[in-house]
Amino acid sequence: MTIAVITIDGPSASGKGTVAARVARLLGFAYLDSGALYRLTALHAKRGGVGWDDEASVAALARALPAEFRDDAVFLAGECVEAEIRSEEIGMGASAIAALPAVRAALLERQRAYRQAPGLVTDGRDMGSVVFPDATLKVFLTAGADVRADRRYKQLISKGDSANLPRILQDIHERDARDAARTVAPLRQEPDARLLDTSDMTVDAAVESVLAWYREAL
Ligand code: C5P
Repeated sequence: MTIAVITIDGPSASGKGTVAARVARLLGFAYLDSGALYRLTALHAKRGGVGWDDEASVAALARALPAEFRDDAVFLAGECVEAEIRSEEIGMGASAIAALPAVRAALLERQRAYRQAPGLVTDGRDMGSVVFPDATLKVFLTAGADVRADRRYKQLISKGDSANLPRILQDIHERDARDAARTVAPLRQEPDARLLDTSDMTVDAAVESVLAWYREAL
């Protein structure tokens, strides 16, 4: 029997991570935040003095990435880097290295290894199109750019960080454009993915939709 996978792809700050993590918890499935792998790779390169445009060196770092997910946090070589990888700077770095084919190839098998019984929920950009093309359910989760900027702003403020709404909106537009325009694994809704626009939806309602679609898909 194949192991169930729910993929939730979509643009940055759409809330897909929150929805995916909650669906995973409710189903008792594992959860993979694939964006965190790209963010960790970007941070690892920055710390090692490797340029984000140095494809071969970044891919080598990605292949041997000392990444670990535990206690709802992300670790690099044993150090908790949860706050650091969520910064806008590392987000931009992740987006830059994610456009490099050798880096994507280096992370492919690692992502597939998270598919373990009883199932996996994963979010990213190409989880349904490239990493798990045979997923049980594919969702494309999005929200308007203004709504996403506002959510990211409130998230930063609630953590006590400083935030600038126009700047966040500009970053979101830039990242969307780069993620959609790249030649490898561009961000787009696959024909077999179900569209979930959460602009006017609560997290609970979005989670309910995904669970209902999953039950339908079984
Ligand atoms: O989802 P998150 O914002 O954490 O992802 C950071 C960056 O990593 C994205 O902007 C995107 O360029 C890249 N990414 C990707 N493919 C994935 C997950 C993330 O290209 N599956």
